[in-house]
Order: sequence, then structure tokens, then C-alpha cells
Amino acid sequence: MAPDGQILAPNVYDAEPIPDAARLEIERLLISGDLFRYTAAEGAPVALLEQEFAEMMGSRYALAVSSCSAALFLSLKALDLPRGARVLIPAFTFAAVPSAVVHADCVPVLVEVGSNYRVDMDDFAAKLPGAGAVLISHMRGHTSDMDAIMALCDAARIPVIEDAAHSLGTQWAGRKIGTIGKLGCFSFQSYKLVNAGEGGILITDDPELAARAVIMSGAYEQNWKKHPGLQNSYMLWQNKLPLYNMRMQNLSAAVIRPQLPEVDARVAKGRAGHDRVAARLNDSAWLSVPPALPPEERAPDSIQFNLAGDWSDAEARAFQAAAKRRGVSVQVFGLSQDNARAFWNWQFLGEMPDLPQTRAMLMRACDVRLPTRLSEAELDFIAAALVGAAEDVKG
Ligand SMILES: Cc1ncc(COP(=O)(O)O)c(C=O)c1O
Repeated sequence: MAPDGQILAPNVYDAEPIPDAARLEIERLLISGDLFRYTAAEGAPVALLEQEFAEMMGSRYALAVSSCSAALFLSLKALDLPRGARVLIPAFTFAAVPSAVVHADCVPVLVEVGSNYRVDMDDFAAKLPGAGAVLISHMRGHTSDMDAIMALCDAARIPVIEDAAHSLGTQWAGRKIGTIGKLGCFSFQSYKLVNAGEGGILITDDPELAARAVIMSGAYEQNWKKHPGLQNSYMLWQNKLPLYNMRMQNLSAAVIRPQLPEVDARVAKGRAGHDRVAARLNDSAWLSVPPALPPEERAPDSIQFNLAGDWSDAEARAFQAAAKRRGVSVQVFGLSQDNARAFWNWQFLGEMPDLPQTRAMLMRACDVRLPTRLSEAELDFIAAALVGAAEDVKG
């Protein structure tokens, strides 16, 4: 707030403070030096986090790891896919997702994504036959048609992994996102609803998948005994699987645990803030926020919208510049150099067919962070800056 009472451009990049309760626990851990999840006989912060997260999600098993990418990789490995198996992923996701597929010795098959940021079901159905697995990124928290995806995959007996990196708190027809597929993966990297700088967690109801993922995450020797249940499954896999050592350490769990009770409030605030800005943007003839699919209840901490109607690349760049002058940074996914969410930059995949629908979307889809801590006045400032910038260029 400026001295004259005017709202200054809000800072959307700073994270929220970590709850005070984390400090005491971190101090205790620093004094004892007990940072490794398997040192304590029981009650290690990582084990407690797993128990609390599984309870919160209504899942049987949770495995905390070093990142969501590690959770995706371990999920693919837990499925025991043959080398070279095709894994369908949306073409609109973060580069870490095709990377996890490659890391697991599988081949990513990119599926077209529409202007509503969701998987194109015709392209999905066409590419599904023969796939070893499907990995659905709910990119930026946008949920694709999970009913249609699950119906096709169940009929073909193809396992589904949900990449719910951005989707903690989102629901689909009353079910928690991440619990619909065989495995669900979440990120605790900064810029996510729960922030530990880095970290991830995998959930599943399947005891064999859980046991395999636990061992491969680095539960060497008899450390699997510190994970509840599953004794028989672990015996089956002991010494049979590689140890990829992707464990979470206790300090991360100490930062995450006190944030879990705040998730519901953050989700409600994030949704209200998002919808407030979306309503204003949709009033502009030049901007449009695609609606969620009817079964989805979102948990957004950012907003995506399209430049509606006819915009040239030069006009889209002029819009970004005008928004910047008004104090708001806008990313147009396809226009920024080396953007990790633009599939044509994933050169590590080698030759790829073009995906005209996804490409067209990326060239006009805009992204603005809306951290859940923003006040209504700050949200209104952002909305006014975006609508004003569109007017500057098109009005
Ligand atoms: C859609 C999506 N999936 C997966 C990841 C990977 O998460 P992490 O950074 O925890 O590995 C990200 C990262 O932001 C992401 O955006």
C-alpha cells in the first residue's frame, strides 16, 4: 500500500511464511542431528507426514520422497513396465514429466490438449491402444475428463498415474484428485499449495505398488519395517529391486506437516481469489478464462486465461508489455524463450510429431500467479491491470 492509500502492484512471487510450529521441530532436529528418516525406531517426522497425508487423502499408503518428479518416476517403476513401454502424457505439462518417463526407460507419447488446457479425448482414445500406462498431469490444477479417461483405461486394463503436482485439494465429482488413478503424485516444491522448497509424495491403495515404490525409494535392508503394514509384500521384493535413493529427509517433513491443517483454508481462499479475477477477465471481450469441467472443484493458486479472438504474436507481446507497465507479469507459455512447458523445447525426446492444437493453445494461453495470501484489493489490482492491458492493445 502506498502512503496515499493506493494499492501498489502486489508481489506474487514471495511464498507464504511457514507456520511457527515448524520452528520448534526444526530446532529439535538440529539439536539431535536426527535428519535421516530411518534413524529413529519410530515416529520420525517423515513417517508421521506419510501417516497424516494418507489420512488426509483417504489413501491406504503414502510415500514421501525428494520431489514430485521422483514420485512419478517411482510410480512408473512400481508398475514394472517393460523397457520401451509407451506412456501417454498430456502435451501441456512441465518438462519434468516427460523426463520422468524417459528416466523410467519408457517412451512418452504426447496427447493433444485443447484451448481449455485439458486432454483432447479424441486424440487420447486414438493413441491409447497398446499403451503401457497413462500419466495424466492435471497441469496448473486443470482436471481433464477423469470419467472418460478412467473408463477407457479400465476397459483396456491400462494403469493410470495422476500427476497432481498442482492439484492438492482439487476434487473431481467429490473424489480427491490423486486418488482416482492407481497412483497419485504431489509436489511440495515452492510455488505449490504446500511449500517445502523441494519434496513430493506418492499415494496408492495398492499394497504391491506401495511396497515396490518404498523399496526403490531407498528403504534398504530392513528399513521397510518402518513403513506400516505390507510385511508380506516387502518380503517378496527384498533385494529384488534397485535402490534409487529418492528419500525425503526429516527437515522437509518438519516444514510440511504444520501446513497440512492449513490446506482446506488455502484451497477455499485460492478458489475465491481465482474466481474473483476470472469473473473480471471474462467481462473483457479480449480475455477468456475457460470454465472447469462440471465435476471439477478447483484449488487454484494461479490463473490461466486465453487471449480471445484474433491476436498476432506481436499483439500478444504488446499485451505482456502493457501488463508489465501496469505492474503485473504475464507468462504466455509459447512466447517465452525455452519455456519448460512448451513441448517443442523438450528436445531431449528427439523427433516429435507436431501437435497443432496444443501449439495454438500455448501461443495464446497466459499464466499469472495468484498466491492464496492476496487480498481482494490486490486481486482487483491484478484483474484491472490485465483488462487494462488488453484494452491498451486492442481497445
Ligand atoms: C505439472 C507438473 N508435474 C510435475 C512437476 C514436478 O514437480 P517437482 O518439482 O516436485 O519435481 C511439476 C513442477 O512444477 C509440474 O509443474
